[in-house]
Amino acid sequence: MAVPKTKLWKCDPHTVAKHRILDRYLQAWFPIIASRYPSLTYVEGFAGPNEYEDGEPGSPTYALRQAMSPKVEAFGKLIRLVFMEERRDRFEHLLETVESISIGTSRPPKLVVSTLHGDCGKDLLPALTSLHSWRQPIFANLDGFGADVPFAVVDRIGKNVSSEVLVTVAPSFFVRFASVQDLEAGDLVFGDRGWRHVRHCSSPEDKRRFLVNSYREALKRAGFKWTLHFEMTDEGGHKLFLFFATSVELGVDKMKDAMWKTDPNLGLRFRDARDTGQLSFAIDAPDLTPLKANLIAYLKGNGKANVGALRRHTLLETIYRMPHATTALRELRNAGVVSVIPKTVATSSKVTLAH
Ligand SMILES: C[S@@+](CC[C@H](N)C(=O)[O-])C[C@H]1O[C@@H](n2cnc3c(N)ncnc32)[C@H](O)[C@@H]1O
Repeated sequence: MAVPKTKLWKCDPHTVAKHRILDRYLQAWFPIIASRYPSLTYVEGFAGPNEYEDGEPGSPTYALRQAMSPKVEAFGKLIRLVFMEERRDRFEHLLETVESISIGTSRPPKLVVSTLHGDCGKDLLPALTSLHSWRQPIFANLDGFGADVPFAVVDRIGKNVSSEVLVTVAPSFFVRFASVQDLEAGDLVFGDRGWRHVRHCSSPEDKRRFLVNSYREALKRAGFKWTLHFEMTDEGGHKLFLFFATSVELGVDKMKDAMWKTDPNLGLRFRDARDTGQLSFAIDAPDLTPLKANLIAYLKGNGKANVGALRRHTLLETIYRMPHATTALRELRNAGVVSVIPKTVATSSKVTLAH
């Protein structure tokens, strides 16, 4: 998608999918965090106008609705919602629409909504400081148009307790870095110069994979334990990367649930961004080939593993869910590629490569 110039623009299938993933995730995140901490912050650094050309709601609306649900309110915890938008006309639209939601339904007394006109890179961290968000969990939705989330923002959030980021990256912008012309912009996003080695990669696919891995490393450097990243392609072939980073294992599980429940009718194809086979699949017809290759590589590296460890590896290191690991292992066993002892694919069964 070309970067829109107008105040509002059309909502594309990627955006619809992203909203469903976010909405489902927040439906789990708000109550889980509210049940465990005195306060929490949901923040958008690139909030947009909160409405699309044909009237569809923007991401701030989904966050507001989930934060205002009776289930969350019942915990009586302080919830901060922070929406930041740089462009004046979009900011004004955002402000108006956010207020109309909050006025239309009664706002829980402990919900503090801050709609701010500002630049995510310069103004977001100071805003979180003045709102006393630190030392309590933060979920940051960083949804720029290109690849424009400053590492400093991700880094600060990564070092905060139980915090998470969801970063959207348009691969076309990512690949812009591959030409190594925009060096400073790249350094700002990756947080160091390691990514510049991309010039040694030969094919465009190698470059893209290298950049994906470099970004994943950057998220780890920021302090996040787990990263999940996948690529969505719409019917027109337009691609979008979503990177999710968290230090909470349950967060990975919930984000995967949200992703795997994306509406198959949106016509999107998904791909594990690290898969060398470039295999994409519809969400309702998952192809387990990349997962099988990954499990075989894991077994080559580790000699043997029990099913529980392979299921956990699948959860934390691939885009697949734990039940996919069970199916993949069964298929690999039936094809004589692995041995499982005892033969049932149960948590404690031992798996080795068959010779
Ligand atoms: C992809 S849109 C956000 C869409 C929104 N998250 C949604 O899902 O409805 C990105 C928005 O970020 C704004 N933006 C771009 N650079 C920014 C910056 N440095 N700081 C804050 N906002 C910025 C753009 O004006 C645009 O409205």
